[in-house]
Amino acid sequence: MPDTASLRARNLAFWTQTAPGWIRHADRHDELGRPLGTAAMDWLRPRPGERILDVGCGCGGTTAALAEAVAPTGRAVGVDLAESMVAAARRRFPRDRHPGLSFVAADIETVGALPGAPFDAVFSRMALMLLADPVGGCAAIRGSLRPGARLAATVFRDGAANPWLAMAVLGAAPHVGALPPLPLGEEPGPFSFAEPARIERVLTAAGFEGVTVQPHDVTLRVPDEPDAVEWLIEMGPASAAYRAVPPAGQAAARSATAGLLARFGAPGGDYRLPAGLWLITATTPG
Ligand SMILES: C[S@@+](CC[C@H](N)C(=O)[O-])C[C@H]1O[C@@H](n2cnc3c(N)ncnc32)[C@H](O)[C@@H]1O
Repeated sequence: MPDTASLRARNLAFWTQTAPGWIRHADRHDELGRPLGTAAMDWLRPRPGERILDVGCGCGGTTAALAEAVAPTGRAVGVDLAESMVAAARRRFPRDRHPGLSFVAADIETVGALPGAPFDAVFSRMALMLLADPVGGCAAIRGSLRPGARLAATVFRDGAANPWLAMAVLGAAPHVGALPPLPLGEEPGPFSFAEPARIERVLTAAGFEGVTVQPHDVTLRVPDEPDAVEWLIEMGPASAAYRAVPPAGQAAARSATAGLLARFGAPGGDYRLPAGLWLITATTPG
């Protein structure tokens, strides 16, 4: 496995080049991707007055939901590696209209002190499996929390439980240029937290206690429309290559992806995409 510095650089490069697609589809993602975080939100139950950290917040939709839940006196802070996504989050949720909400562009593994710390709770949707140094990154998260704080996060289980992720890459790949390196084994990537015993080991080594890892299945309802298929392509590894080809290549990529997704088509023109997640919960020692 490459060393941690190389994995961190790869992670930053990946998310910097994938960010434009996330920004373009941010509103669609907030709506269609909501089921990916509902279980963690429900477990966390953010309460008015609390300070909550959102790790890997992307374009800020979940951080804004957290800020709303802790209003009027609480605060939600989103942190994300991709500067352009954080800039988009600030544009989408300006301080004058969202006073309890702020965003930090940083790698959670190396950021040090975060404004607003110590937090009462941390939320993370689909980001912990991307840490280059999972124990170090989770220890950094723990270091920003108060004693007795709660953690709730969701991550993908494995590829078999989330077949549409591969379809969005395989459909696009023949029609676009070279893709970034795909992760192997336990290298950071969508399925690096597939093994629940590994998640427990990582969080325990990072200083959390009472770690639970429970399977949670959701269905993403995605309209059978070019923009929605493009959202699926632009969320993942084919994103930058897809953007770089002319419109005809993009149309071919969308059409091939839609062909692979057809088995998930439902009456009424939606895809019903099965997503298999782990809901991870833990607390910091009181
Ligand atoms: C799969 S996306 C999920 C975004 C958002 N949580 C959501 O569910 O819409 C993962 C996000 O984690 C961010 N990320 C990855 N590694 C990170 C790190 N070490 N520190 C901070 N953010 C990170 C990426 O930039 C990306 O925005």
